[in-house]
Amino acid sequence: MRKNEELEQKLQDYYEQLFGLEDQFKIAARKASDSLNLSKISLSMVEASVMAFLIRQHQCQKFVEIGTLTGYSALWILGALPENGKLWTFEKDPKHALLARNVLQHDQRVSIHEGDAQQNLMKIENEGPFDGIFIDGNKAAYPDYLAWSEKNLKSGGLVIADNIFLGGSVYGQQDPRFSEKQVAAMRKFNARLADSKVFCSTFIPTSEGLMVGIKR
Ligand code: DHB
Ligand code: MG
Repeated sequence: MRKNEELEQKLQDYYEQLFGLEDQFKIAARKASDSLNLSKISLSMVEASVMAFLIRQHQCQKFVEIGTLTGYSALWILGALPENGKLWTFEKDPKHALLARNVLQHDQRVSIHEGDAQQNLMKIENEGPFDGIFIDGNKAAYPDYLAWSEKNLKSGGLVIADNIFLGGSVYGQQDPRFSEKQVAAMRKFNARLADSKVFCSTFIPTSEGLMVGIKR
C-alpha cells in the first residue's frame, strides 16, 4: 500500500464496493506482501486495475512481467489475458518467488522465472515477439529491460513501467529511498521511452508514476 494509507484504504474499499471484492488469490498475494512488510512496494488495487485495463484494451496475448514480488500484479495481468494467453514473470528473490508460486500455480498460463531477470529474459526470446511488458523490477536495470523490450516486443507492443518518478527524484524532489545510480538509470529509461521515433508514450500520474508506451 502506498503513501497516505488511510485514504488509500478508503479508495480501495470504494473500488471494491463498485467492482466487487477481490478473489482469494489476490487476497493471499496481498497478505503475503504484508507479511514481508512489502505492501508499500506492491501495486495498489487501483494501479493494478489501470494496468489490467490497458492490457485488455491492447488485446495482449503474450505478456512479460519483471518483478513478480508475491504475485499480486501477475494475477491482475492474468485477469486481462485471454484463455490462450501466456505470462512470463521474473523474480529475483527466492522468498518472493515461493510466495508468488502459492497464488499463481493454479493458472496454467503463467511461468515464474526465479533469478536475475537480465539473464533469464534471454532464455525466453525464442517465444517472442511479445505483445506487452510490465516493468517493476530492479530500478537500476530499467534501461536494460527497455532495450530488451525494444528487441523482443512486436511493433505496436505495450510497455508499462512502475515507479518512473522515483518518488519525485527524477524531477528534482529527492527521495532518500533511491540512489543516484537508480535516479540516473530512471532518467535514461524515461528519456528513451519518450523518444517519439521509438515509442508513443505518456505518464499516468499515480503517486509512484506509471509510464505507458507503444513501440512504433
Ligand atoms: C519501492 C516501490 C516500488 O513500487 C518498487 O517497485 C520498488 C521499490 C520503494 O518504495 O522503495
Ligand atoms: Mg513498483
